[in-house]
Amino acid sequence: MSFDVAAVRRQFPILSQIIDGQPVHYLDNGASAQTPDAVLDAVRTYETTGRANVLRGVHRLAERATEAYENARVEVATFLGVDPLEVVFTGGCTAAINLVAYAYGSLLKAGDRILLSELEHHSNIVPWQLLRSRAGVELDMVPVTIDGRIDLEMLPRLITPRTRLISLAHVSNVTGALLDVRHVVALAKTVGAKVMLDGAQYAPHGPADLGSLGIDFYAFAGHKAYGPNGVGVLWARAELLEAMPPFHGGGSMIGRVTLAETTWAPPPRRFEAGTPPIGPAIGLGAACAWMRGLDWAGAHAHEMALVQRLMDGLQKIDGTQILGPASLQNRYPVVSFMLDGVHPHDVAQTLDSFGVAVRAGHHCAQPLMDRFDLDGTTRVSMAPYNDNSDIDALLTGVRHAARTLR
Ligand code: ALA
Repeated sequence: MSFDVAAVRRQFPILSQIIDGQPVHYLDNGASAQTPDAVLDAVRTYETTGRANVLRGVHRLAERATEAYENARVEVATFLGVDPLEVVFTGGCTAAINLVAYAYGSLLKAGDRILLSELEHHSNIVPWQLLRSRAGVELDMVPVTIDGRIDLEMLPRLITPRTRLISLAHVSNVTGALLDVRHVVALAKTVGAKVMLDGAQYAPHGPADLGSLGIDFYAFAGHKAYGPNGVGVLWARAELLEAMPPFHGGGSMIGRVTLAETTWAPPPRRFEAGTPPIGPAIGLGAACAWMRGLDWAGAHAHEMALVQRLMDGLQKIDGTQILGPASLQNRYPVVSFMLDGVHPHDVAQTLDSFGVAVRAGHHCAQPLMDRFDLDGTTRVSMAPYNDNSDIDALLTGVRHAARTLR
């Protein structure tokens, strides 16, 4: 049976809106995806039947809240194929990477090296630059190929016996390129380096099965994975979490506090100081359950058919150029393009007048823009609820921009 995109769309109330007489063609999922009824219902149930703080109270509402929060952790863990005790709720993907840069980073010494790439999102560059300032670690950068992939042929030359961590995007938020994780892990093992993946653009496209990848840290955001804003996930191997000191201090993350000293709670609570984002975490648990229920073989084939339709359409418009892999192999449904002589912001503005939402600019990846000497791109990022009408509306808008803006 083919993938029933209409049935998926119906679960996302925002997509049935008409704004200024136009349907919503939402193709900015890489920035923030939309939220299905299952997630909205889970958050509403918490807010209306079990709202209270977690891990503190003995009253029934507190117990209900704690149970829902911990069940959400189990849902996330099941989605990732890992142990729930290795799942830390954070404020977002950026917060998760900062947590690793601070807490794992505090175990590193001056002269230790961290390997990143030229296509990383700023959230996988700046935390490491801050660590470099604090601890004197060195940063190395894997270059990017002409088709927007991390150049894995360069890896053996860049990995050294002092490389402690390799932190890379699982899927590029600009080019859609999918990383060959097993290749990276195999090379990392030759020097005993840890591997972290920024999963922000991978997690929204299906369960990850991290256990089989051989990696050490994984981060993703709730709001890009059909969940609420304000929550994200860090997964790390139990022994690494155990070895890491806290990032933030406060309630919940302690064993015992005296005025003289404090002992830490075991992970994951050690890394969840203060009141966590309870409702958002419950919503993210529901999003993970929703994702697990989707036919991903069908959804992925559907998403890639949309990518093909988009790329074929763009190629027929004079002066367009795609930044990223030209084939569908090892790529995800994120497509960046340039329209000769037209600034990406103007393309996006024109598309908005056709009811099409995309992101334009540097996409928080300025080093990648520098690599290609670009001000920015127009980026189309898809989800399983997108359909041919979204792509066709976008192509109509790009044709209009090409006719009227140059
Ligand atoms: N990181 C998000 C993006 O790539 C905001 O659009």
